Amino acid sequence: MEVIILPDAVDVGRFAAAKVAAIVARKPSAVIGLATGSSPRGIYADLRRRVDAREISFSRARGFALDEYVGIPLDHPESYASVIAREVVEPLGFDPANVRVPDGRAADLDVAAAEFEAAIAAAGGVDLQILGIGANGHLGFNEPTSSFASRTRIKTLAQLTRQDNARFFDSLDDVPTHCMTQGLGTILDAREVVLVAQGPAKADAIAAAVEGPLSAFVPASALQLHAHATVVVDEESAANL
Ligand code: GLP
Repeated sequence: MEVIILPDAVDVGRFAAAKVAAIVARKPSAVIGLATGSSPRGIYADLRRRVDAREISFSRARGFALDEYVGIPLDHPESYASVIAREVVEPLGFDPANVRVPDGRAADLDVAAAEFEAAIAAAGGVDLQILGIGANGHLGFNEPTSSFASRTRIKTLAQLTRQDNARFFDSLDDVPTHCMTQGLGTILDAREVVLVAQGPAKADAIAAAVEGPLSAFVPASALQLHAHATVVVDEESAANL
């Protein structure tokens, strides 16, 4: 695992975006693992700048989102399908047909999860997975105690995660209780992963993930097993390293 500590959040976004840009420049049909949340927004902003400058194009790239809530309408502004469309697909110019988000509204969620895994395999696997990290060390919505071997499946959201994400909803009661998320095993299958974190709220999680023991209580510690993982953090998130 390579750890890159940069002065601030803007530098973090630029550094990680350069990795995405390099892969898409080399392979226009690259498969990018897409993350939601506030952490990767700097990456998408820098990629947008590169698209506008015609340095790169995502018109042939493919994307798979990490996770989705279960139990909110697809067109809810905070469904991850909506967020990915608004924050990634539209600004970066992905073909919407080439981007898939786990289907949290499927009649049979287990079948939908298996189909999502099959779609990643059919695409040839993920070339680069973008990741944020939860304050409790989660990746995607793989909450503490998730198996390192887990695949895409339904999970119950931890109360801390629901509280963290309540800012996106009218009230805590409106935050879904369940989700569908790629598993840690799915994430580890990506050929390269880049995790970004900014700010003091992530300092404990980053220290535990990077320097702590491998533990299902810290899902992001699974990245220590990955042969090509980069953790890009600002000085505040690096404070406990
Ligand atoms: C969310 C997402 C994760 C994200 C994390 C951190 O709930 N499911 O993919 O990495 O929590 O979010 P943020 O980047 O907003 O701090």
